[in-house]
Amino acid sequence: MATDRLLMCRPRFYGVAYVINPWMEGNVGRTDADVAMQQWERLTAELARRAALDYVEPVDGLPDMPFAANAGLVHDHTFVPARFRFPQRQPESRHFTSWFRDRGYRVVSLPSGGTFEGEGDALFQPGAPLVWGGYGVRTSLQAHRDLADILDVEVIPLRLVDERFYHLDTCFCPLPGGRIVYYPDAFDHDSLETIRARVPAERRCEVDATDALNFACNAVVAGGAFITNFSSPALRERLARWEFEVIVCPLTQFILAGGAAKCLVLHLTHPGAQRPAATPRAVSGVRERLVEVQGDLLDTGLMNTFLDCITEGGGSFEIETFQAGLRHDQASLARVRVVAPSPERLEAILTRLVQMGARVAEEDRDARLEAVTQPGVAPRDFYSTTIYPTEVRVRGEWVRVTGQRMDAVVVIDGPPEAPRASCRLLRALVVGDRVVSGIEGVRIHPTHVPVAGETFGFMTADTSSERRVELAVDRIAWEMRRLRDRAGKIVVVGGPVVIHTGGGPHLARLVRHGYVQALLAGNGLAAHDIEQALFGTSLGVDLKRGINVRGGHRNHLYAINLMRESGGIRQAVERGILREGVLYECVANRVAFVLAGSIRDDGPLPETIMDLLAAQEAYARAIEGADMILMLSSMLHAIGVGNMTPAGVRLIYVDISPAVVTKLADRGSVESTGIVTDVGLFLNLLDARLGALE
Ligand SMILES: NC(=O)c1ccc[n+]([C@@H]2O[C@H](COP(=O)([O-])OP(=O)(O)OC[C@H]3O[C@@H](n4cnc5c(N)ncnc54)[C@H](O)[C@@H]3O)[C@@H](O)[C@H]2O)c1
Repeated sequence: MATDRLLMCRPRFYGVAYVINPWMEGNVGRTDADVAMQQWERLTAELARRAALDYVEPVDGLPDMPFAANAGLVHDHTFVPARFRFPQRQPESRHFTSWFRDRGYRVVSLPSGGTFEGEGDALFQPGAPLVWGGYGVRTSLQAHRDLADILDVEVIPLRLVDERFYHLDTCFCPLPGGRIVYYPDAFDHDSLETIRARVPAERRCEVDATDALNFACNAVVAGGAFITNFSSPALRERLARWEFEVIVCPLTQFILAGGAAKCLVLHLTHPGAQRPAATPRAVSGVRERLVEVQGDLLDTGLMNTFLDCITEGGGSFEIETFQAGLRHDQASLARVRVVAPSPERLEAILTRLVQMGARVAEEDRDARLEAVTQPGVAPRDFYSTTIYPTEVRVRGEWVRVTGQRMDAVVVIDGPPEAPRASCRLLRALVVGDRVVSGIEGVRIHPTHVPVAGETFGFMTADTSSERRVELAVDRIAWEMRRLRDRAGKIVVVGGPVVIHTGGGPHLARLVRHGYVQALLAGNGLAAHDIEQALFGTSLGVDLKRGINVRGGHRNHLYAINLMRESGGIRQAVERGILREGVLYECVANRVAFVLAGSIRDDGPLPETIMDLLAAQEAYARAIEGADMILMLSSMLHAIGVGNMTPAGVRLIYVDISPAVVTKLADRGSVESTGIVTDVGLFLNLLDARLGALE
């Protein structure tokens, strides 16, 4: 069996002199040079029994040089030098590269600009032409694509998500026999799936936080031994079953800087890692695409959201061009190369970016269409719609999607010379429907892209003041007046709190004066409105006096019962039983109302639609052509309506809870305004302002 050759660097100038990882924090100047040297010598002695060792000369002023694993990656007499992320370590490269050059190695630098921290983030699976590549903290994904090309090995990128495990070798250790020891919490979900797909369960050893935080995974495997700073009894037992001898060499001085056994060693040989001569060259799974995004990238924070979206999706990026708008009314333009570890993850990231208004900056292609084979079920990677105007490319022509709404699929039909594209709900799909899949040939025109963490004007500390609410109401009243003058359409969506807070008479007046063209609510608002009209109470509370009426909590049931006896609200109005209130005004003024049922409904009222799909459809019809929708204190109904409303409709959300307003308004279209206030006060104020405008 070939002996491993390892490169090490004596810690003559070792110490913690700066902070570039969480382990170093608080440890500057706290290492003990003598103890560090003893620990290193003990490790070296153990290694010397099992491998051939070479040494690189330490350099004064480069305290991290003993962590030789980060020098680069060696394979088959080729050395790929590191490109360190932090300037403190960058000078090390020159010294390591000279060492390899002097010994006749072919030195190949990475062609792309990304960072690469050597074997720390690129671990050979012993005996196989396979490298596990860590990225996400120190090394870039591009480096792994380049490594696969340069060394003709397969590279499997794994994304690190915990800064304490900043290099792959701190949380992952490949062993001979296709085995691995690793700490799952250091990886993202997709990487764990990748690991589990590649390594069968009986060859994986998962360690817990105690092992991981004591650098148990940071082990050197040589001559049948697993040499590490620490091992729990469980890990020792597992490794014994795999016939590895566990040798513990305390390296506490090096842990002060965030490294242990494996960090101190660079493999010069990888027996069995050459690909057999006749096999095709290794192809990296890493994929990239160039995307372009334009708009208020800086002042709205969109650029940050955009880049976060790439990294959160497990990708990385290189900004190729950035032209900043020089004035506040000038748009910025960015061209960004998006890199992802696999074609599937690239597609997932691009889908989100396209939904934020980015374009794939390559020649336009037609949308990919796939046929529905099961009623009500879309092809797996169907394009899911947003609220924004969307176009789809069919036979070289861009076709505007109709019936725009969120969370739908796009179906293409019509004759080949005049294709049509429309939004369709999953449940409405029939076998044979041609559905747009993936993001190819889809472009959207966002009016405003939701930015993570965006807060709305009326929610920040100084702006939730009464005065700000008054100003907002002034503005809304003015808009409503203009809409009424030009026969626009205003829809009100409301919950029962409207009635409980005394807003009923104000909303009734809005209906009477032509400010409401449709009312969408649940059983609750209608039941309590009718209760108030008939008994003067809302959920048993006398709204004039603000006190509980004895036995009044039953009043809403009597009200519902009366409506049922009459055959419905309309009939009750016609018979003169119901003579005031919001629902009365709707009937009297021929304003459409739709009541959608819910699980907590009493009765229900005869008009309440208890078939939820039918209720959703009735809501969707009622908001068609709406110019403004006022969502008043009903999270349930407001979310339902928000999902079916395209961009361009003015949305006003009123709720007492800031969290609810944020949730509702987080689609963030420019047309939406969130107001945190009591809905009764809001309606009172709105009614007064509209009255003043009469
Ligand atoms: N008797 C009944 O049949 C009955 C009674 C109540 C509710 N319901 C039904 O239950 C469903 C859910 O009811 P929902 O829409 O009221 O619940 P919801 O929880 O979805 O929404 C209520 C919202 O009102 C807000 N709110 C509370 N006090 C407020 C105030 N003073 N000012 C402004 N906002 C305030 C809350 O923050 C919350 O977001 C509806 O379909 C409704 O019709 C039926």
